[in-house]
Amino acid sequence: MDNHSFFRDKLLEWHAGHLRPMPWKGERNPYKVWLSEIILQQTRVEQGLPYYEKFVAAYPTVHHLAAAPEDEVLKNWEGLGYYSRARNLHAAAKYIAGELSGKFPDTYEGIRALKGVGDYTAAAIASFAYDLPYAVLDGNVYRVLARFFGIHTPTDTPAAKKTFAALAAKLLDTAKPGAYNQAIMDFGATHCTPRQAACPSCPLREHCVACQSGMVNALPVKSKTPEKKDRFFAYAVFYHHHHTWVRQRNGKDIWQNLYEFPLIELPALPADPAALPEMLLRHCFPGGAPPGTQIRGISRPYRQTLTHRVVTAVFCEIDLPESLEMVDFQKNILENYQRIEHFKLKKILALPRIIDWFWQEKDVTLRFK
Ligand code: ADE
Repeated sequence: MDNHSFFRDKLLEWHAGHLRPMPWKGERNPYKVWLSEIILQQTRVEQGLPYYEKFVAAYPTVHHLAAAPEDEVLKNWEGLGYYSRARNLHAAAKYIAGELSGKFPDTYEGIRALKGVGDYTAAAIASFAYDLPYAVLDGNVYRVLARFFGIHTPTDTPAAKKTFAALAAKLLDTAKPGAYNQAIMDFGATHCTPRQAACPSCPLREHCVACQSGMVNALPVKSKTPEKKDRFFAYAVFYHHHHTWVRQRNGKDIWQNLYEFPLIELPALPADPAALPEMLLRHCFPGGAPPGTQIRGISRPYRQTLTHRVVTAVFCEIDLPESLEMVDFQKNILENYQRIEHFKLKKILALPRIIDWFWQEKDVTLRFK
């Protein structure tokens, strides 16, 4: 037996003995397979599972998803992160329901053409829903292959993609592509893990180059680790008759289409954060803050780590005077914001996680006031 057949057979045998029950396993409905694969992009199974169930219940068919308002879809996505996935999901659902008369594409190219579907997701959907012979290739697969075959090509290079794609295609069990793809995904996620791989009980160890040469922890190789940039946001949380002001983020930046308070962005948390509320007031009311405006306080710094960013935020809570009649709204930036009741904020709008954290802590204190 060559090492290719050994790898393929042992992997499928391992999978048969290590079934991870997941509601989308064995699912052939392409819509549900697609939904699960989009949710599972950059997301652990345990985290994605409740979202999958929520989406299937709220949108049982592509028509239901296509007909939903985008804000509602984003709200249901809240907490999962990488919101472009939800926006693309929704756009693709509209495309399928409208342009394709509700018929999910059934070729690799057709699936790959959907917004938000890359090579990996297209291969997963094509193989799970239609048993088409396309091998999945993601971080898990790179790791398993780099270790078993002892490949030292840095995985974050175009050259690696070619090498690994060719190897993965050769290894694929074309009689059962769906089962093979699921097996290698699960093996990478639960057995051949980045740290503390379960080598002692590994069915592949006999022919695994990394295991035999003590290179398990050195593989796969990456050429660079991108450094994370710091960003700092100071938010103004206004209080006015149980209302505050928010608006939707747009433009090509983080948190597209999520809602946030008025803000200023600075290079870093200033040495003297006590100056922030005044800075925010000058920003929001260039013609001067309404008389009677009072600063309630400044929150502790909150921190959220994104893929390429670390965001730090502080929240300055500001009471506006009862009457705002004297305020010329043409001359302040709140005109561009939406006035919303406090209790509705969390209920109906999708917020970045950092704002949600702050607001939840706030909510606890508000309840006791
Ligand atoms: N990650 C992405 N797709 C997956 C799947 N089908 N099963 C488990 N983990 C996954």
